Amino acid sequence: MTCITDAKVISHRRVAAGCRRLVLAAPDIARAVKPGQFLHVRCDGGTHAGYPRGAPTRGTHVSGLGWVGSADLLLRRPLSVYDADRERGTVTILYRVVGRGTALLAEKRTGGRVNVLGPLGRGFEPPGYPRGVPTWGTHVSGSGWVGHRRVAIVGGGLGVAPLFFLARELSAGVSEDARPDPTRPDPLGVPALAGRVPRAGAPGGYPRVPARPAVAVFQGARTAPELDLADFSVLPVDLFTATDDGSRGYAGSVVELFLDTVCHEPVDWVSAAGPPGMLRALAGALQTLGLPGEFSLEERMGCGIGACVCCSCRIGTPERWEYRRVCADGPVFPAREVVWE
Ligand SMILES: Cc1cc2nc3c(=O)[nH]c(=O)nc-3n(C[C@H](O)[C@H](O)[C@H](O)COP(=O)(O)OP(=O)(O)OC[C@H]3O[C@@H](n4cnc5c(N)ncnc54)[C@H](O)[C@@H]3O)c2cc1C
Ligand code: FES
Repeated sequence: MTCITDAKVISHRRVAAGCRRLVLAAPDIARAVKPGQFLHVRCDGGTHAGYPRGAPTRGTHVSGLGWVGSADLLLRRPLSVYDADRERGTVTILYRVVGRGTALLAEKRTGGRVNVLGPLGRGFEPPGYPRGVPTWGTHVSGSGWVGHRRVAIVGGGLGVAPLFFLARELSAGVSEDARPDPTRPDPLGVPALAGRVPRAGAPGGYPRVPARPAVAVFQGARTAPELDLADFSVLPVDLFTATDDGSRGYAGSVVELFLDTVCHEPVDWVSAAGPPGMLRALAGALQTLGLPGEFSLEERMGCGIGACVCCSCRIGTPERWEYRRVCADGPVFPAREVVWE
């Protein structure tokens, strides 16, 4: 369920140069959000701050930027959900200050309010998640579900923002309240399990195997401090890191590291987010390896709810594609269907 709320700032701290982590109290959103979904954040707080303090415009004073008029900030800014705590009712955002909106957001103090709309968009859906499949297995005709999958999560730079939540949920197993979604076909063509909630080990049910996939996280960054943006090391995942300058982990791109690694430690699904160049290179690698996967895309947004069509991307094949809205049809799309410009 999508809602709009004035969320209280629980904490707001710097995690790397120009990057901050914001924890908001938003119980309804925390309950509903799935990894890969985003919030549309009103960075100016929905007020005419600055008036009546004698400002030349009805704007807000942002250090380094001077007076910022309210008009452009009436537009919300899309920011992925980095993590959600359903019990405490909080959602966390990880963002980089790049312009006016995010500069204003960086000014928010603990105890203040941020107006957010969400959760929005269609998030990550590796096979089995969140359709209520009891194991991360493969369906073999005559044998039912066997074994469990190894999922790779690949992120570059700030692209890790939507991936931490996914890695945490996957490595913790399928969530209790996950329900089959009969409207989405399984990317691997596994027959829909709509309406069935099988009991592990029960006659006619599925074999009892660990309800948890093996998760390998591939995190790339320009330099070592950028790797600290996300806390993957606290999760039960295999973590592989790469830096462009070689200051930590593999020296080179995260896609090269991924290719080197999967040669001897195969994976059967890839969920990824990051800069377009990284995703494009990864798309080529997946095509070569014949691996399925999904990418989270970013486009500049207006409404965030599918009405203004300003966030279009091309989905289909190079010969036959159509425009889709990143906000409403995505931001996560099947990797092999993204048509790169
Ligand atoms: C679905 C989605 C999820 C996102 N999640 C995150 C996140 O978790 N953390 C994060 O830091 N950023 C995220 N972004 C990007 C974020 O929305 C922009 O950085 C933000 O809107 C910039 O607002 P601004 O007012 O500070 O900058 P502006 O003054 O509007 O722009 C400053 C610069 O940022 C670029 N920019 C603005 N919007 C986008 C965009 N949507 N995509 C790419 N470049 C943009 C502009 O081209 C310009 O160069 C996400 C974007 C989308 C579409
Ligand atoms: S932002 Fe308006 S349709 Fe996507």
